Amino acid sequence: MALKGKDLVTIDNLTIGEMDAVFNTADAMDNNLADQYGQCRGKVMASLFFEPSTRTRLSFETAMHRLGGRVISVSDPKSTSLAKGESIADMARIVSSYADIIVIRHPWEGAARLVADYADVPVINAGDGGHQHPTQTLCDLYTLRRERGDIHGLKIALWGDLKYGRTIHSLIFALAKFGANIIFCPSPGLEVPEHVLNKLVTEYGGDLERFKGAKRKVKNGAFPVDAAYITPGKPHQLAMMPDVDLDVEMKAGVDALYVTRPQKERFSEEEQEPSDVFPVVDKKLMRGREFRKALVMHPLPRVDELAYDLDADPRSMYFKQAAWGVPVRMALIALLLGMKEVLIAEKPSKQHVYPWYERDYGVACTNPRCVTKQESEKKYLKPGFKVVSRDPLTLRCVYCEHGTEPKFVASTEWHEGKLEFKFYHRADSHWRKQIRIENLIAFDSEKEAEKYGFKPTPARKPRTKKETNAAAD
Ligand code: NCD
Repeated sequence: MALKGKDLVTIDNLTIGEMDAVFNTADAMDNNLADQYGQCRGKVMASLFFEPSTRTRLSFETAMHRLGGRVISVSDPKSTSLAKGESIADMARIVSSYADIIVIRHPWEGAARLVADYADVPVINAGDGGHQHPTQTLCDLYTLRRERGDIHGLKIALWGDLKYGRTIHSLIFALAKFGANIIFCPSPGLEVPEHVLNKLVTEYGGDLERFKGAKRKVKNGAFPVDAAYITPGKPHQLAMMPDVDLDVEMKAGVDALYVTRPQKERFSEEEQEPSDVFPVVDKKLMRGREFRKALVMHPLPRVDELAYDLDADPRSMYFKQAAWGVPVRMALIALLLGMKEVLIAEKPSKQHVYPWYERDYGVACTNPRCVTKQESEKKYLKPGFKVVSRDPLTLRCVYCEHGTEPKFVASTEWHEGKLEFKFYHRADSHWRKQIRIENLIAFDSEKEAEKYGFKPTPARKPRTKKETNAAAD
């Protein structure tokens, strides 16, 4: 197996073996940075940043320069034809005819996936809105691996904005893949989105224990634990004692505290952060029993949530995380371009294959930041979903991965095409299982269903005396 030609849109695109190959290559390159010049000679990387960035953009560009390749870049969103209303698909087709590899950061969730669909060259997601940031995750895992040797069995506390932090969303799945345990310490109101947790437990196994007694108050300058993810195959006390105060679990000590800043640029109006609920991670907090041995990690930039008094502390990893971004991204670029070949050890892993749902009309993604909701993209882009559950009927957008539960369903096979039988039904009725997936049409509202000529399910004639009486009441 080789990484050549692959896209990295979400962290799910890489297996453990592939990530190990990136890390081993990064180790070798980091030992001898100056010697890598020439590995990607003659290759061009397009660096397209439609959102602010310091570390990610500069480390990608440094990586390509160190490999001897060339970089073409966009760092001001207003300077491209997207500002004139050009679609992402057209931009992707054009840029992929100029460059051998594309790195894209964009505020719309699912934008990197869309670029990958239309580009003929490997595409790397450098952050798409609040969705994912897989290369930051590679830097985070690489740091854990270098500092702790093995990621398996580690206990990592995720802290702060777990709702909008895209680095968090990629990291959760990667930690689960490597068999680490996760303690969730969200800022009140900024908990991990349900669609992320659902995917975590359904696709990665393991147990998610929710902290029932959580009164969402900040205790002693620390966010209370909201939930814990226990990796599969590890008999765990928490699973047997669901009501245990998970703060006790923290007291046993965590291996790393992963801090994030409030991602204010993605806050809704109601979410404007009250200043007293974002405690500062500082020397005093890190003296606590739970953090004594913990590495302090942060994707940066920091604002007020991480004190400068920790910078000289040997547990602080955030500058190393950023610095190692160069060898990690060098390894990734060289491998995706096929300029470096490595042996990839693969363990068989469970693949989740879901039925696909795609229609020109009907249900749309409910996430306003999704790329499918944008005017410039709607003209050509059909919403696409994976049917991840039939009970309740749950569709996962293939671009931004938000979940949606449509309210009404119908079938394309409405009784041999006779229009008088063109009915729609409630999605929680028995029909949701009766209609074959390939015939399914899902609607968000009755109005939508009626717009396409469907009529409500006719009331069934009462069959029993009880039903007749109930109908008469
Ligand atoms: C992060 C990002 O852009 O998501 N930064 C980074 O890439 N290192 C985190 C953040 O902005 O808070």
